[in-house]
This record gives sequence, structure tokens and C-alpha cells, in this order.
Amino acid sequence: MRQTKQYVIRDVQTDRPALEEAAAVLRQGGLVVFPTETVYGIGANALDGAAIAGIFAAKGRPQDNPLIVHVTSMEEVADLVTDIPEQAHQLAQRFWPGPLTIILPKSDRIPEAVSAGLDTVAIRMPSHPVARALIRLAGVPVAAPSANLSGSPSPTTAAHCVADLDGRVDSILDGGPCEVGLESTVITLVSPVPRVLRPGAVTVEQLREVLGAVEVDDAVYHKMDGTAPAASPGMKYKHYAPKAEITLVHGDLAAFQAYLLSRTQPGLYALVFDGEQDRMPDGVHCVAYGGADDPAAQGERLFAALRELDGAGAQQVYARVPDSNGIGLAVYNRLVRAAAFREVY
Ligand code: TXA
Ligand code: MG
Repeated sequence: MRQTKQYVIRDVQTDRPALEEAAAVLRQGGLVVFPTETVYGIGANALDGAAIAGIFAAKGRPQDNPLIVHVTSMEEVADLVTDIPEQAHQLAQRFWPGPLTIILPKSDRIPEAVSAGLDTVAIRMPSHPVARALIRLAGVPVAAPSANLSGSPSPTTAAHCVADLDGRVDSILDGGPCEVGLESTVITLVSPVPRVLRPGAVTVEQLREVLGAVEVDDAVYHKMDGTAPAASPGMKYKHYAPKAEITLVHGDLAAFQAYLLSRTQPGLYALVFDGEQDRMPDGVHCVAYGGADDPAAQGERLFAALRELDGAGAQQVYARVPDSNGIGLAVYNRLVRAAAFREVY
């Protein structure tokens, strides 16, 4: 057990002493949980293999799942990769700082543990002011996976991080709830055609505006059957998994109501859109996750809603299915994984 210190960061200027303490912890090889615009991350010095091992231990993360390295400038990127292709500059220009991770060929400065044996490294420049200040003050690139225990939903508030990691990390910085609520879009440029490995708030449509042709990896839509090697190792795990058994019910609201009526049993939970709570059959407990036409709000609230269902002790949950256009693809991707691909039509 570590003694975990908690800090509330309201403002990077006023709260600079706390940020400096946390930055020193990173430099000394410790673990610091910090907010980003996507989800909270558990950070360590990306150039320190022993510190990286600490991340895997704290999360209970499989060793073969590589980490994203967070930076604040393009100059820092140059050191971490063997080549910055023109397409990476174009993406950085348009989407950094922000919720996009770019996979590039790694340089030998990246420890084996960060890249999990791959010859590539994932790089992201976050926009959250607390993340930026922390990385700058630390003076090192910061490797950071989402700050949840491996297999539980990603954390979008400091309270989620405390629930999962208190006693397992050195510090937790509370910067309020995350704006996006879903992990960054991951795109690889180490492939003949740029390929999205994980959808996020930077949409496939936006990436195509900048790059032209962009492919979407099969694992975004489908369960990996385990025979093909995973382009993104994270995709093969049952991810974002709440304790409840979730089933996605396709179709409109009327079809959803009819489906619930056909299986009335005690302790039924429904994950619905805002305003639908009153229209569910009697005895169904509802948790809402944003308006039906508001995918950004759905993304912001989905992981908290999954944690709320677990907190309520839900065992069986039926979920309304989001539209999968734009950022909705990311919402659908996370929800269908939380449901372990259980879907009814
Ligand atoms: O928004 C985010 O990206 C958050 C915040 C903290 O920045 N971080 C995050 O990290 O979601 P994590 O470790 O939970 O997810 C990283 C994903 C995993 O699916 C991993 O397999 C993939 O990125 N990944 C990392 N390095 C990779 C590489 N070299 N090649 C392919 N996939 C990689
Ligand atoms: Mg994660």
C-alpha cells in the first residue's frame, strides 16, 4: 500500500505548489493520477522503465498492452520516434492539443515496457491545462493509461480514480469532471493507409478531411476472434466492463419498451436517454446517459452511468443504442464492449 495524497487543482497558477510536488513525484519515478480532457490518466515518467512497471502493477494491466506517451510540444515528439511523417504534422496542426493519439515508429529512448515489445509508440498532446502544466513542470514525457483498475470503466472524475486506485498511487490531482468522457481517438500512421484503432472525439470524418483515405480497424466494430493479431492490443480485452450484464437493444423507443415488458422480472435496470425514464414499464430502474440526439453528452456521461449501475448493484441492464455517426461511433464502441457484444435486434 502507498500513502495516496489528494489535491484539488482549481487553477494552475494558484495551485502551482501542488503541481510542482506532483511533478517532482513523477521525476522521482512515482505515480500521479491527473485529469485530461478525455479521461483521467495514471502517469509515470515515460523514460523510466521501473516507474512504468509501477503503472502496470497499480492497474493490474496485462503486460502486452502498450501505453500512450503524453507530451506538450512537437519538439518532445522528435526524441521519441524515428520519423515524423508529413501526415503526423498535419494531424498535430489540426487536432493537437486534443483527444487524438498518433502511433509512430518508436526511437530507442522508449522503454520496452511502454511499447509492450512493439516497434511503435503511441503519442498524445492533451489539451487539459492541469495535464499540460504537470507534464511541463515534470520536464519528462508522461506515459499514462486511463486511471482505472484494468477491466473497469475509465474514470471521468477524481472520485472514480480514488475508488479504483487509492493506496496504489502516490498522488491524485482532482481537476473536476472530464469534458469528453471517452478515451482519445487512436490512429496509426505505421500502416499503408492511416487506420483508426480506437474511435474517440476526433471523428473518422474529421480525420478524412485532413488525410483523405482513412481506414477503420475491424476491431472497432467487431469482437476479435483471437486468431488475427490485434493491431491495438487494448482492443482484444473485455474492456470497459462493469459488473452488470448489459444487453444492447436495437430499435426505437417503442421497441425498447416492448422488449422490457416481455421480460419483466425483479431488479431490471435500463440505460436510457434523457427524458425516457418516465416511459419505462413499472419497476424498471433507470439510469440516463444523455439525450438521444446528443452524442457528445452521451460520451461525457457513459462511463459514470456504468459505474452508477454497478454502485446500485444492477445485475441485468438493457441499454438504448446510440447512433453511431461522428462521436457516436466512440460511444457505441465503448458500450458494445461493456456489453461484451450482447446485442438483440
Ligand atoms: O484519452 C486517452 O487516450 C487516455 C488519457 C489518459 O490520455 N489514455 C488511455 O490510455 O486511454 P489506455 O492505456 O487506457 O489506452 C491506450 C490504448 C490501448 O488500447 C492500447 O492498446 C493502444 O492505445 N496503444 C498504445 N500504444 C499502442 C501502439 N504502439 N500500437 C497500437 N496500439 C497502441
Ligand atoms: Mg484504458
